[in-house]
Amino acid sequence: MEINGMEQDLARMMELTSLRAQKIEAAPATLDLSDPVQELVQRLHPEKITLRLEAIKDETSDTRTYRFTAAEGSGLPFFRAGQYLSVKMEVEGKRVARPYSISSAPSDWPGFLELTVRRKAGGFVSEQIWRQWQAGSLVEASGPHGNFYFEPLRDSRQIVAIAGGSGVTPFRSMIREIAAGKLDLELLLLYGSRLADEIIFAKELEALAAKAPQKIRVEHVISEPAAGWDGLKGFIDAALIREYAGELSGKSFFVCGPPEMYRFLQEQFAQLGLPRRQIRWELAGAVQDITAEPGYPAGARGRIFQLHLRRRGAEYTVPAAAEESILTALERAGLAPDSQCRSGECGFCRSLLTAGEVYVRPESDGRRAADRRLGFIHPCASYPLSDLSLTTP
Ligand code: FES
Repeated sequence: MEINGMEQDLARMMELTSLRAQKIEAAPATLDLSDPVQELVQRLHPEKITLRLEAIKDETSDTRTYRFTAAEGSGLPFFRAGQYLSVKMEVEGKRVARPYSISSAPSDWPGFLELTVRRKAGGFVSEQIWRQWQAGSLVEASGPHGNFYFEPLRDSRQIVAIAGGSGVTPFRSMIREIAAGKLDLELLLLYGSRLADEIIFAKELEALAAKAPQKIRVEHVISEPAAGWDGLKGFIDAALIREYAGELSGKSFFVCGPPEMYRFLQEQFAQLGLPRRQIRWELAGAVQDITAEPGYPAGARGRIFQLHLRRRGAEYTVPAAAEESILTALERAGLAPDSQCRSGECGFCRSLLTAGEVYVRPESDGRRAADRRLGFIHPCASYPLSDLSLTTP
């Protein structure tokens, strides 16, 4: 504070006193509790959103892209290319959630947002999506989540993207963003599909690569090619990666596909001597057959265990099959905790295991070391090996 001498300072103080009185007089009778900063944060990064389905496009015989706009009273959230939404649905009277990568680009925002869904035969949720979602449907989802995006502090601007099947969806988002001139990356996409007919976004990827050939390159690899396919055949292995990616040091690898592909690629990356810090793995989702995992203990397969649950002051007992994640068992019973990633990473479903044994595959164990010691599990990535006692949020 500036000192001007006692008289002047006293005069200024008198002014302040009268100014304060005027301000109090002019103030509204009720307190203004609005918080514009918090409102902006909520608008850009909402915890929950409601989407209106505008259009459906068939991409392949079993894959569709759903285009959404914001429902009345809801906005489209800000996101980064590669993130996912957790879609909330009622299936057979039970509330379930499934993560889907956003396949449109941030530069399509705020016009529309797209999710691309492959229908799995017998898939608890994907079958329902195909049946239920029609133009005009309102769909509930979480805000965007996930770390599978380009982060300049962490990643190289030279990206080798490896996709399997519907794992191409986050890369479509990144490629659209690059082609729109909003993301300054060089991206090589090695995209594995079983059949040429199963390639998702085939024409669009070709057109986007032609638009920015110095930035985007797409190579398709078909594992069961029909006669007439003259492109790359087999799997995305070490030799193919070396041939197309060239010098590997200084490049970041982003991988999105099924768990079987992750296991295969881990071996290939080891052969290539690729350090872990250069690789980003997108969430693999629920494992198709947990009992086929190399570390799965013998003896539990086919068994049904009793799951004793404490939740919000009440107690329940529900059956839990060895082959199902604990989260799936709780969803069937209508007692599931909140979930987002379903891959053991986000921690939304974190629960306390007070008795019993579970199997967690190492690749899906996203718990903190302290949580592991204290007995917490992520039910989405934990499978029962005995009767269990669990406390969920
Ligand atoms: S839902 Fe993310 S850890 Fe379980």
